[in-house]
Amino acid sequence: MRSTIIAGNWKMHGTCAEAEALLRDLLPQLPTDDRALVIVCPPYTALATVHRLIQNTRVLLGAQDVFWKERGAYTGCISPLMLLEIGCRYVIIGHSERRGRFGVPEPDFDAPVLAHFGDNNVTVNRKLRAALAHGLVPICCVGETLAERQAGQTDTIVADQVRAALQDVQPEQAARVIFAYEPVWAIGTGEVCQADEANRVCGLVRQTVQQQYGTDVAAAVHVQYGGSVKPDNARELLAQPEIDGALVGGASLKAADFAAIVAAAPVS
Ligand code: PGA
Repeated sequence: MRSTIIAGNWKMHGTCAEAEALLRDLLPQLPTDDRALVIVCPPYTALATVHRLIQNTRVLLGAQDVFWKERGAYTGCISPLMLLEIGCRYVIIGHSERRGRFGVPEPDFDAPVLAHFGDNNVTVNRKLRAALAHGLVPICCVGETLAERQAGQTDTIVADQVRAALQDVQPEQAARVIFAYEPVWAIGTGEVCQADEANRVCGLVRQTVQQQYGTDVAAAVHVQYGGSVKPDNARELLAQPEIDGALVGGASLKAADFAAIVAAAPVS
């Protein structure tokens, strides 16, 4: 039986002061039982503050990205060692806001969906392997754009992203990966993927893992849904058999909403 994992992706929100205020608001509102694992992923600069505040609570710490080298001349990058030292156990990898897309040569900073940090299937694989090698649990995002969905390419794109992310990953490592199926058109748009369709694609992620690693690894892998998860749609999404949790953006910045999403996890 897989646990439900609810992760809050704060994106570029949260000075240390704001992070502290959000945490102090959130902690007393979280359910006290263990119906779900709760992870928050603040910006790098707030990781230490959040780590201090979640001591002796049920909340776990994640980062929003990681570079694959341990150290070196990589201006602006953060290594797995740095994340571990500061108390992170999880890291989001390959979020669509960090992946580049062919046919989008210049970043469009006004586009509703930003994709201008140039991550691709190759860099996602490097980051994922580096995270696993250091004992971090990757939350690996996959998902199609609206154009890809309209062109009927959803399944191909998602399966390709899963296979590429897992290239050269050993089975016992692969079993530790959390995938997040995040249709790009549903992120930050308020347009949620229908629960049965989200369930179908999360199932496809698992099937793709199964083709490569067999049933045991596929049964161990967690697959979250992400994209406009809110208190009013969380219960239906989290009740789906293939959906093992949620990666929550906007709603994770509101303590009451995030706590309500955690509370919507099925009690086993
Ligand atoms: P959203 O973001 O919940 O605001 O749609 C989800 C995500 O980007 O992980």
